[in-house]
Amino acid sequence: MPLVTSTEMFKKAYKGGYAVGAFNVNNMETIQGIVEAGQECKSPLILQVSAGARKYANPVYLKHLIEAAVETTDIPIVMHLDHGADFEACKSAIDDGFTSVMIDASHHAFAENIEITKKVVAYAHDRGVVVEAELGQLAGIEDAVNVKAEDACFTHPDEVCEFTEKTGCDSLAIAIGTSHGAYKFKPGQKPQLRFDILEEVGKRLPGFPIVLHGASSVPQDKVAIINQFGGKMPDAIGIPEEMLRKAATMAVCKINIDSDLRVACTAAIRKHFAEHPDHFDPRQYLGDARAAVKELVKHKIVDVLGSDNKA
Ligand code: G3H
Ligand code: 13P
Ligand code: ZN
Repeated sequence: MPLVTSTEMFKKAYKGGYAVGAFNVNNMETIQGIVEAGQECKSPLILQVSAGARKYANPVYLKHLIEAAVETTDIPIVMHLDHGADFEACKSAIDDGFTSVMIDASHHAFAENIEITKKVVAYAHDRGVVVEAELGQLAGIEDAVNVKAEDACFTHPDEVCEFTEKTGCDSLAIAIGTSHGAYKFKPGQKPQLRFDILEEVGKRLPGFPIVLHGASSVPQDKVAIINQFGGKMPDAIGIPEEMLRKAATMAVCKINIDSDLRVACTAAIRKHFAEHPDHFDPRQYLGDARAAVKELVKHKIVDVLGSDNKA
């Protein structure tokens, strides 16, 4: 099956009360682990690439790795640009064959966010590509942007209708308390999401696909393995999975996961070296990382997203 856009995927997810996992990729083993999991669970997938990932792997390599993933499976796969910083970044991804892009102009004032998003939508739609936009700001670290917790702001439901009407975007990322990275809450702090905002946005935009960024759960068993085998990730805390499950039954159709993949890979590799100090063939430890990614993604698909058997 060739690469697809997320249009049909999101329609089915909205109706079916589940979400599609959007997994960040930057190397072959991660892509293989995700795609093997998606294939075995018969789940649609979004493979997303950040600007940092494109720079790290070389856009040509990543594009061909994703095309190889598509060629070796029969599940619907979207190739998505994550956090496109401006029109040029989105244009470059669209020209390169991406079927979906995110324009993240959420740090600009409302009117400017609309203008920038509108320009990307016009270019993308002319070429059959869909656009995710963002309103509100998440805390945490992305490649180029570091938003301090005090500068983060929740999405205002009052703004979503005007924004989606004026921009023509196809999906909308909102801020309800998730954040990027592996340190989302402080120890002792009760993890909370603003489900009231999500519910209100859902009422104002019936049928419209909502996206959650910063939605890793930071599995504590994996963090414990990292710390046991020489790592140092004290107080890494994520979003409880039951909250994500609940969001997936509401208007949320796309859930972004990156940090959990990183944690799973790192735990597998640290354990591998601790148990096999004589190993030096990358296939041995990267093979373990790939298996760990596959196991994590299967768990997400079945127990969190609910997207199994929906391909
Ligand atoms: O939200 C950002 C993603 O986690 C990508 O991270 O920019 O370090 O590749 P990155
Ligand atoms: P996490 O850091 O929670 O995995 O979020 C990833 C993300 O939102 C990518 O855009
Ligand atoms: Zn994000």
